[in-house]
Amino acid sequence: MSKETVLILGARSDIAMSTAHYFAKAGYDVQLAARKVNSLDQYKSDFEQKYQINVTLHEFDAIKIDSHKHFANSLPQLPNVIVCAVGVMGEQKKSEQDIELASNIIRSNFEGPASIFLIFASLFELRGSGTLVGISSVAGERGRAKNYIYGSSKAGFTVFLSGLRNRLAMSGVHVITVLPGFVATKMTNNIELPKKITAQPDQVGEAIFNAVKKKINIVYVSPIWRIIMMIIRNIPEQIFKKMKL
Ligand SMILES: NC(=O)c1ccc[n+]([C@@H]2O[C@H](COP(=O)([O-])OP(=O)(O)OC[C@H]3O[C@@H](n4cnc5c(N)ncnc54)[C@H](OP(=O)(O)O)[C@@H]3O)[C@@H](O)[C@H]2O)c1
Repeated sequence: MSKETVLILGARSDIAMSTAHYFAKAGYDVQLAARKVNSLDQYKSDFEQKYQINVTLHEFDAIKIDSHKHFANSLPQLPNVIVCAVGVMGEQKKSEQDIELASNIIRSNFEGPASIFLIFASLFELRGSGTLVGISSVAGERGRAKNYIYGSSKAGFTVFLSGLRNRLAMSGVHVITVLPGFVATKMTNNIELPKKITAQPDQVGEAIFNAVKKKINIVYVSPIWRIIMMIIRNIPEQIFKKMKL
């Protein structure tokens, strides 16, 4: 059997790097795609030495959607699995006053990832195989005053992934939606997170790898978040709107 390849989009993310390790350990060749991708030179050598696999680096900007077709066609080979870890949380308060900032959050979490997945979805469909993994967020399950710009962009991405899974269900292509709760990464560095319900990037990486192997559709990294979100989704709007969570 020929070797499998995973493409990681937004590869400088902490979650992305942990995920790449799990695939590399299993013998996958790895394509790392990110902005300023040369900053990953050291990772490339480390991965290749440690896991005896091939790693290639690719410049990728999720919001430069005009470049996406060229990006997909310029890869040395069409990957078997693609994980999109691109994301921007931004600052809610500032983004409410600055439409450029708000737009960057929405485009980075939704428009960009959706654009690149549409391109790969068609290539995978033509081949009749492949797995697309989108890292969305539980923040997309209900809009909250504290992060509804980020949350709504993730909601868009979650629904997009659901529709894509629906479209591709009979094509041999699988689509996975990952819904992490809190994860201790660069993104959440300056937020105080409750330890008991905060995952480490490594747990997310392992959950993603297992989901690909088991063809799971929707992954809540820690099961507790399934329950937390069920409760939050079911709070009546009359009460919820006054809670300012
Ligand atoms: N941490 C959490 O609590 C949490 C919870 C739920 C979901 N998530 C999601 O998990 C994913 C990974 O996040 P993380 O926690 O690992 O945070 P992170 O380390 O900040 O990773 C986010 C990555 O997205 C990349 N990115 C942003 N805009 C991009 C663009 N236009 N083009 C290409 N790459 C871009 C960043 O690249 P640069 O390095 O170039 O800036 C960064 O590497 C994100 O989608 C995030 O929304 C995180």
